[in-house]
Amino acid sequence: MSELPPTSDRSKIVLGIESSCDETAVALVRTDRTILAERIASQEAEHAPYGGVVPEIAARAHAERLAPMLEAVMDDAGMSLEDVDAIAATAGPGLIGGVMVGLVSAKALAMASGKPLMAINHLEGHALSPRLANPELEFPYLLLLVSGGHCQILLVEAVGEYRRLATTIDDALGEAFDKTAKILGLGYPGGPKVEKLALSGDPKAVALPRPLKGSKEPHFSFAGLKSAVLRAHESGKYRPEDIAASFQQAAIDCLIDRLGHALSRTEVPPALVVAGGVAANTRIRAALEAFAETHQMRFAAPPLALCTDNAAMIAWAGCERLPLGQSDPFDFKARPRWPLDPEADTVRGAGVKA
Ligand code: KG4
Ligand code: ZN
Repeated sequence: MSELPPTSDRSKIVLGIESSCDETAVALVRTDRTILAERIASQEAEHAPYGGVVPEIAARAHAERLAPMLEAVMDDAGMSLEDVDAIAATAGPGLIGGVMVGLVSAKALAMASGKPLMAINHLEGHALSPRLANPELEFPYLLLLVSGGHCQILLVEAVGEYRRLATTIDDALGEAFDKTAKILGLGYPGGPKVEKLALSGDPKAVALPRPLKGSKEPHFSFAGLKSAVLRAHESGKYRPEDIAASFQQAAIDCLIDRLGHALSRTEVPPALVVAGGVAANTRIRAALEAFAETHQMRFAAPPLALCTDNAAMIAWAGCERLPLGQSDPFDFKARPRWPLDPEADTVRGAGVKA
């Protein structure tokens, strides 16, 4: 173990657990933004034969891995539960079996140690993760949250205050990347594979639709794009790398158009932030950075390891809530659906996995 940076007396430590999809993860994070220890186990190999996440397999894998991982993370940091100030776990939205494994474990640890429990919204974890990496990032900021289960534009006004400006009416963008990968026979998870293949393709080679581009409606839609990818592939006329590059470009055009629409409806905040698994995509990051520059906004994207599902972001959401004196009761229920903005209208599809 390397030596930890010195702590101030007021720093607190939060243990975070993530188990809402196909990553089992545990982290110890200090309120001064130090990640003291973290471990993550992906279930890619278990789900790969099915081309997507199988909820029952995911729940079992979380149940098998979580306890040894908790022990290992505490060991890595050379700490015991006594050193921890709060226990945070993803309590939704996500695949309910997995969420329950993490939340119940956190409840047991909190109960046994007498430390507060924090039931974290997974989306809040993504929404606040850029502040873990970036101490200068102040509220408010415009957040593009793009993952396998979600595609939303949110105005992040403060901890716990999120205004949803747009969501998807059908597929999430990560889902569209995964389906494109499946159509092209690239395997699962698809995002990084499509991105890699697109590097050698021509983004103008295939004329693909940009669903809802220019629409007065604020939302995203990717189902039509995915179907067009399927038709292009089945026509046999195009190289897979050209389809991948054209798909990625169409997705980027949609993101930029919808962000422009969102900005036309709100006061332009000082920063644009991207989070969620799709934020790992280099071309998408570059396009967002250019968009931010045109609108005189700062651009922030967390490092790749903080973009995809992880437990440091869950522990960090706990760190953000700790000074506000927020904790949750032991009867807090796992929630398969849990919108960040409860005032936002329900939208068809809404891109929630499960
Ligand atoms: O945030 P995340 O790890 O899990 C969810 O909460 O959904 O996001 C996973 C999603 C997957 O759909 C994956 O294909 C996509 O993020 N993804 C990418 C890239 N890396 C991961 N999509 C595009 N380009 C990438 N480089
Ligand atoms: Zn996620």
